[in-house]
Amino acid sequence: MHLSRLLLSHFKNIENADLEFSAGINVLYGDNGEGKTNLLEGIYYLSVCKSSLQVQDKDMIDHNSQEAAFFGEYTTDAGMAEKISCLLTRQGEKIFKRNGKRYEKLSSHVGLIPVVMVSPQDTSLVFGPAEERRKYMNFLLSQTGSDYLQAIQEYNKLLFQRNRLLKQEYLPADVLDALDSSLSSRGDWIHEKRAELCKLLQPHVIHYYELLSAGKEQVGLSYESDLNRENMATQLKKNRQKDINLQYTGTGVQRDDIHFSLGNHALKVCGSQGQQKTYLLALKLAQFSLIRQMKGVAPILLLDDVFDKLDARRVAHLLHLVTKNGFGQIFLTDSNKVRIEEIIHALGGPHSIYRVNGGVFTYEKTTDQSIK
Ligand SMILES: Nc1ncnc2c1ncn2[C@@H]1O[C@H](COP(=O)(O)OP(=O)(O)O)[C@@H](O)[C@H]1O
Ligand SMILES: [Mg+2]
Repeated sequence: MHLSRLLLSHFKNIENADLEFSAGINVLYGDNGEGKTNLLEGIYYLSVCKSSLQVQDKDMIDHNSQEAAFFGEYTTDAGMAEKISCLLTRQGEKIFKRNGKRYEKLSSHVGLIPVVMVSPQDTSLVFGPAEERRKYMNFLLSQTGSDYLQAIQEYNKLLFQRNRLLKQEYLPADVLDALDSSLSSRGDWIHEKRAELCKLLQPHVIHYYELLSAGKEQVGLSYESDLNRENMATQLKKNRQKDINLQYTGTGVQRDDIHFSLGNHALKVCGSQGQQKTYLLALKLAQFSLIRQMKGVAPILLLDDVFDKLDARRVAHLLHLVTKNGFGQIFLTDSNKVRIEEIIHALGGPHSIYRVNGGVFTYEKTTDQSIK
C-alpha cells in the first residue's frame, strides 16, 4: 500500500498542495520551519485520525482558516485505489470518509493504512512518564487489531465510573461488584494483548539494534504491569478496602509501563545519547516489522529529520535496512540538499524530491545525472 496522491487545504502552514508521490522514496527538503514535518503530520493524520505530536485537532487547521481538508489516494499492493478524505472544522467537526462513505466510528479506520513515524519527539518514549509508553502500546495495538481501541475506550470509561463511585459516600456493593467484573475482564484482555506485543517486539528490537550499532550492546524490552502477578479480579478484590480509603483504583493496566534496557541497566539512566537514539530507531523499525508481519502490508514509513541524529555509519546502516527486506514507501525530511542527493544516489530506485518553502512544495528533478 502506498500513498500516490495527497491534497491538503489550509492544513497548518500548507495553504494548498496537490502532490504525487513515488511508491519508493520521497524526499522533502528545506530549511527549518518551512513545512516538512507538517506534511508528514498530514500523512500520519490521514492514517491515525490524530496528530503524532499530541497537538489538538483544531491546531491542525491553518490559524487563519475555519477548516482544513485533506484527501489521500492510496494504491494497494493489488493495484486497487483507496480514497480517504478528512474534514476538520474549528467547531470541532471531524469527518473521515473512505471512498466517499463516511465512517461512523474513527476506530474502524485506524489500522487500514498502517504508518510508522520516526521523529525527534520519540525521545519522550524514553524520558517521558509511563503514560507515553502506554499510549505507544495502545497506538501499536490499535493499528494491528480492530478490537483493541474499543476495549481500551471501554476500560477507561469503566475505570472512570469506578473512581467516581469510590468517591461517593454511599457505595452500593452490588454496583461495585458489577463494575469490577466488567473492568477486570477488559483489563485482563488488554494485559494479555500488551504482554504479547512486548514479547513479539523484543526480538525485533534486539535484531535492529544489533544491525544499527554493529552489535556491541545487548538491549532488552520488558512489560511491567500489576497484572503480571495475578489477574485483575483478584487484585481488585484484595485491594477493595484500600481503594475505598484512597477513593481511586490503585491497580490495573492504567499503571502499566515498558522497561527499556541496555546491558543490565535502564536505557534512560545509563544509555549515552547515541545509544538512546539508536535504541529508539530500532524500536520504530521493530514496530514496522511487527505491523508488516501481523497485517501482511508494509506500513508507510515517515522519517522526520532522522539523519541529523545519527553519525554516517549509522545512517548507512539505516538506509541499507530500509531499502532492503520489504520496506515499502518511505518519506524522509532533511534540511541538507547535498546529503539528500547522496542518499538518493546510494539507494537508487523510484523516488521523488520536493523542495519545501513556506508551506509550498515544488517538485524537483535531481541534478545527479546518474539517477534515473
Ligand atoms: N495551525 C497552523 N497554522 C499556520 N501555520 C502553522 C500552524 N501550525 C504550525 N504552523 C507553522 O508551520 C511551521 C512549522 O512547520 P514544520 O513542518 O514544523 O517545519 P519543518 O520544515 O522545520 O519541519 C511554522 O512556521 C509554524 O508557525
Ligand atoms: Mg521538522
